[in-house]
Amino acid sequence: MAESKVEITGFLARHYDNIINIASLGSYSKFIRNAIGKMNIQAEDRILDLGCGTGRNACLMAQYLSTEGAIVGVEIGAEMIERFERNCQRFTNIIVVNARIDEAMDFENEFDKALLSFVFHGFPQEKQDIIIDNVKKALKPGGQLFLLDYEEFDLSEKSALFRWGFEKFECRLAQDYLKVDWKQKLSELGFGKFGSHLFYRNLIRLLKAELLKNNST
Ligand SMILES: C[S@@+](CC[C@H](N)C(=O)[O-])C[C@H]1O[C@@H](n2cnc3c(N)ncnc32)[C@H](O)[C@@H]1O
Repeated sequence: MAESKVEITGFLARHYDNIINIASLGSYSKFIRNAIGKMNIQAEDRILDLGCGTGRNACLMAQYLSTEGAIVGVEIGAEMIERFERNCQRFTNIIVVNARIDEAMDFENEFDKALLSFVFHGFPQEKQDIIIDNVKKALKPGGQLFLLDYEEFDLSEKSALFRWGFEKFECRLAQDYLKVDWKQKLSELGFGKFGSHLFYRNLIRLLKAELLKNNST
């Protein structure tokens, strides 16, 4: 997927967590711990982590789980999978599966929560629709999707420096992502009971969306 920058390989994959730490001037660890703390993870939750990367989020989520809970990461990058396995090896209830999240997946009615962390903005609309279909199928009725990604904002209202950085380092698809009203879109797709938390001067949002039990979409 040439226009996307969320498929991460090579040097960036091998040093992903360190690069994020440095780029955020050391603030990322506190932020991600805080964001995951707001997911209200229960000890027996089964969590699907889509585009799970190095396992940083999975390890943080695992701290809320008992041995009855579990995390399944889904990831396409070989280097990321290697790091995930190494980082999460101390947890017996975490696994990573090598699969694409933007193609039909086999999970059905088995997860309480699904996390899409800094990956969803990198897909064109038709792939986003497949990802949401996968989430809906994988969640139990009443299960919750957590979308940790950009808050919607008008790029043209930001400073010239911000726009330059966003256009240089983010993919074109991320600009399309900013223009979608995700609460509205997800409510059309059978989700509701939204909740959100904002971070980094309201640029980043953790959006909770519950799969409504009577949804027929
Ligand atoms: C920007 S990273 C975020 C990783 C992790 N979710 C986090 O928040 O630290 C995006 C991850 O999604 C993975 N990814 C991208 N496209 C994917 C796809 N189609 N299927 C599965 N994983 C994918 C990348 O390899 C990468 O590890």
